[in-house]
Order: sequence, then C-alpha cells, then structure tokens
Amino acid sequence: MQKVLILDFGGQYNQLIARRVREQQVYCEVHPHGMTLDEIRRFDPIGLIFTGGPHSVYLPSAPTVDPGVFDLGVPILGICYGCQLMAQLLGGRVTAAQDDSAREYGKTPTAFDTSCALFEGIGGESVTWMSHGDYMAAIPAGFSLAAHSAACPTAAICDEARRFYGVQFHPEVEHTERGRDMLRNFLYGVCHAAGDWTMADYKTQAIEAIRAKVGNGKALLALSGGVDSSVAAALMSEAVGDQLSCVFVDHGLMRKNEGDEVEAAFAHRSLNFIRVNAAERFLARLAGAEEPERKRKIIGEEFVRVFEEVAHQIGAVDYLVQGTIYPDVIESGQGEAAVIKSHHNVGGLPDCVDFKEILEPLRLLFKDEVRELGRELGLPEALVSRQPFPGPGLAIRVIGEVTEEKLALLREADAIFREEMARAGIAADQYFAALTNMRSVGVMGDGRSYDYAVALRSVETRDFMTAAFSRLPWELLDRVSVRIVNEVRGVNRVLYDVTSKPPATVEYE
Ligand code: XMP
Repeated sequence: MQKVLILDFGGQYNQLIARRVREQQVYCEVHPHGMTLDEIRRFDPIGLIFTGGPHSVYLPSAPTVDPGVFDLGVPILGICYGCQLMAQLLGGRVTAAQDDSAREYGKTPTAFDTSCALFEGIGGESVTWMSHGDYMAAIPAGFSLAAHSAACPTAAICDEARRFYGVQFHPEVEHTERGRDMLRNFLYGVCHAAGDWTMADYKTQAIEAIRAKVGNGKALLALSGGVDSSVAAALMSEAVGDQLSCVFVDHGLMRKNEGDEVEAAFAHRSLNFIRVNAAERFLARLAGAEEPERKRKIIGEEFVRVFEEVAHQIGAVDYLVQGTIYPDVIESGQGEAAVIKSHHNVGGLPDCVDFKEILEPLRLLFKDEVRELGRELGLPEALVSRQPFPGPGLAIRVIGEVTEEKLALLREADAIFREEMARAGIAADQYFAALTNMRSVGVMGDGRSYDYAVALRSVETRDFMTAAFSRLPWELLDRVSVRIVNEVRGVNRVLYDVTSKPPATVEYE
C-alpha cells in the first residue's frame, strides 16, 4: 500500500489534512515533525506534507525538520507554516508582516498559475482560506510564484523540477473552494498515487495481520454495541473465529430493547458472545447516588469488576481487544511524550487481569472509515451508522438518583422520540430524551397530576465539542409531546432543550 507522510508542526487542521488525503483513497499517517531521516526513509512515503503550525519559522524555538528530506527525491507539499519552513530551509526569507494589510485571515480571493501541477484544471481564480501573520518575502532559488492574493504576492510557490510545492493558504478546509482538487493534483498528478486505500483491501490486510499475531491464542473484547467495539468484534471474528470471546455487559442502563438488539446483531456470528445481565448489581451500587461524577465512577468501577470476573472464568486469555481509533492515537507534533489514550467508554479496562498484549485493530482508522469497514464486514446499517451513546448509558440521562422506575419511564419516552424522528426522516447528529428530576402539577382528565417532566434534546454537531440545538419542526415536537404524556404514565410535561454547547453539554450529567 502506498503511503503519504504528514509531518505535524502543531497546526489545528492536521487531522483534517489526513482525512482529506484518505478520502481520495490514499493512505497517510500523521507523525511528529521530529521524525528522523532514517524513520522517514523506512516509512517509504510517495509524498510528504508539512502541516501548518502556530510558530514563526525565524524564531530559534521554531519546530523544524531534518533538511535531508529535500534530498530524498520525494514530492513535498508545504501548507502555511510548512510552506514557510520549506522556503526558509531552501534559502528563501520569511518575515512578519509589518502592517495589518499583509496579514491575511479568512476567505481570500486568490489568483492561480494553472501551469503549476498543483493548480492544473482549477481555473484562474477562486477563494482560499488564509490564516497567517508571516509571509515569504523572498522565495528560494529554483522556485517560481504560482499564486497571489491582493495582500500577498507569494500565496503559493512551486519547483516543478524537484516536485516541491508550498501554499500559504489551507487547501484542507472547506472554505478553500478548490482545495480538494489541489490535494488531488498533488496526490495523483505529482505523487502518482494509485488510489489503493480502500476498505476492502484494508479488511483483507487487517485480517491477515491479526491472524499472524494471535496465532492459536485467545482474545477477549468488551462489546458495548457501539460502532467501534462492534466493528472491532466483527473484524476479529472474521480473523480468528472462535478464539475470540466478546463480553457484553448489560448494565441495565441501555435504551429500550437495546440489549436484545445488540445480542441479535451478534448472536449469529461466531463470537462466543457472552451477555452478562448485571442490571441488578449496577442499580444496587447506584442506589442513593445523586452526584453525576459519583454515578459515572460507580458505573466505571462496576463494569471493570464484571469484566474481570468474566475474563477469569474464560481463563488463559492472551489478548485484550480495544476499539481505539486514529484520532485517539495521533501524537502531538510539539515534542511532548506521545499521548495515547487508554480509550474505553466505561471508565477504563482492568490492569489486574493478565494479558500478553492489547490489540487495537482500528487504531489507524478515522470514525467514518470504521463505519465503512463495518459495512464491508456486513454489519447492519442501523448499527454502523448509530449515533453515539455514552458508556454510562441512561444513568446520565436520569438526573439525580437512578431507579428502575425512572429508567422505565425514560426508556419509553426516548423510544417514542426516536421513533417519531425516524418517521419524520430527520437525521440530527444526536438526539434523545432525558428525565429531569422535576415534578410539576398538571391536569389530566378532570384530575390533578404531579408527575415528571421529560426533556427532549437534539443537536447538530461535527465533533461533539461544540453543538447547536436542532431546529425541529413544531409539528414533530407536538406529536412527540402528545404521545409521551399519553403513553408514558408518570410524565405530564415535555420540554424541548434549546441550549447550545457551550454553555450546556450534550448530555445532562
Ligand atoms: P457532552 O455531554 O460532554 O457529550 O457534551 C459529548 C459527546 O460525548 C458523549 N458522552 C460520553 N460518551 N462516555 C461516553 O462514551 C461518557 O461518559 C460520555 N459522556 C458524554 C455524548 O453522548 C456526546 O456524544
């Protein structure tokens, strides 16, 4: 498989660059800029991309790269800081823009020289996204100017002979109108990519690698029914068959019918699927707990205990399988120690169960690639395209103490909301019902009621770090409200949450 190497100089869009490359069926990895020349050679890239970054190349502390990369004969695309760094290392001059007019932030009309391979076929002028306070005052020998804007005569440079290209703007962001085409030109026109990064190929290779690693050993996976663990399970199962055991801890905090649905989705596969019905034990531990962090902690701890018990029962398990994905793995370019999250959605897996090794078969994939792999493995679409569901489950959607009675109310109300959303064909990024801890007075029939209020939450978001509430149609909210108060005994009021994140969070606890 051909590989592009993205050297990370600390820019905020670095993961986006990687996604844009992979979208074009070219495999790439993001590595810290301090990678040695030997490591780069061993990586054997068909092309290099230097990312942007917050520094100024002329300061002594500025992150840099081994200048030997320019002698490898490999094409290079420098973006923003990466472009300035290349210019400086090859003999150009980069300085701070002296007055505000030479700094550029945001959408900028830019003119291109379409004889440059990077800009072939993209038209003479379009909008790019700029974000820079420094600029190239002199470009290195061998380079020519390939784009300019009103404020910046050096918006792009190229040296076709050595196949070095630099852009002052960010081709990876949506605001750069022809950014995708520019990256495509670099990958296919300049690096001669074959477009060999497909999920079908990945599946085959991953299966071979897992078989080679696991041999005759046994592997254990905690299956939550979420996208990542489900895809990891299906992949492992195809690779090692019944050497794999999957433990699904049903903590009783799942949505309506969810435990059975997870079981049904996996029962026919040779997963040694073990469902542990642990609802009673979780609820007993949660009794009296009202504080959100305490609730999370109890659930995390109890999960680990149950998982450990099952692992001991199975015995002699060599490998623990985790659904870690690429965004959790990417190391920072700023020279800090590699931070690799021990990622699990219910509070970490046990240290005290002895495993020879942890397997992370999805650690190279972005979320959308995980979903694609799931489809490739024949998982049902409903499972593959699931919205996120938090590890602590409905416990953080029942505000205050969790009881079986409250869970039952919430399950019904939530199922009605999801059913009506699906019927209306509305695809918000995440939506659910929560049970507030508030009771209020209502009138039902001719009598007084004093019942719970259900809150409906629906959000639009890309990354779940920020979110806007969904503008749902009144008719839909009306229908959901009428159904919930009629069908769910114990609820007499339905509220719609119109708060964004920040200041609110998506979940209630
Ligand atoms: P918040 O509430 O922090 O949620 O705005 C952001 C996203 O993360 C999910 N979430 C969790 N997922 N364990 C998880 O696996 C958790 O403890 C947890 N808390 C929140 C939430 O559903 C949303 O998608």
